[in-house]
Amino acid sequence: MDATQKKRAAARAALEFIEPGTRLGVGTGSTVNCLIDLLPGVRDRIECLVSSSKATTALLEKQGFEVSTLNQVGALDLYIDGADESNKRLQLIKGGGGALTREKILASAARRFVCIVDDSKLVGMLGSFPLPVEVLPMALEFVSRRLVKLRGQPVWRKDFVTDNRNYILDVRGLQIVNPLETEERINRIPGVVTVGIFAHRPADVLLIAGDQGVRELRA
Ligand code: 5RP
Repeated sequence: MDATQKKRAAARAALEFIEPGTRLGVGTGSTVNCLIDLLPGVRDRIECLVSSSKATTALLEKQGFEVSTLNQVGALDLYIDGADESNKRLQLIKGGGGALTREKILASAARRFVCIVDDSKLVGMLGSFPLPVEVLPMALEFVSRRLVKLRGQPVWRKDFVTDNRNYILDVRGLQIVNPLETEERINRIPGVVTVGIFAHRPADVLLIAGDQGVRELRA
């Protein structure tokens, strides 16, 4: 199976978690795009949808779905999203697509978070994938210097502005031995909007698609 086939397989497996009356949060990225292609098939089980990005909203609307806001819906039953990396504790790095802030909000608002990945995303230790950090534009240099003090090498994602009109720093060189602590430390830097470590709100279920099919890890 190539990477796209694996993404489709993981997305298909996630459909089983959508029960009748589900208030569903939808993530962002190429794996989630495979899910969005399949959602019309389970339309009757979806009570309402909340989106994590403008890109996802556009795709959902193209499929004929009405997209609600989190303020309208309140709580979510289920959030489905991809990830850039996951460890075996289902702690994640997210934000490769730059949607990490809204993704973290929806994941936190959901009773259950199902993460869909191909097997290349499962790692022993988080940090090979450059860690995305969403930053207020006026604090870009200040936050960069603080990240260097933490032994990271931040690189400004040029020509990219988030849906919240902020910037992204992609931080290389961090060995994230303790994801909970690193998430807290980076979150505490003034000017940081969101760090792409999802350790305080890890996934509840990880669906990993590989050549042998889709396997499931639970937190
Ligand atoms: C977007 C994300 C995505 O979930 C992550 O980048 C994975 O994307 P893909 O499914 O395209 O590999 O965090 O902000």
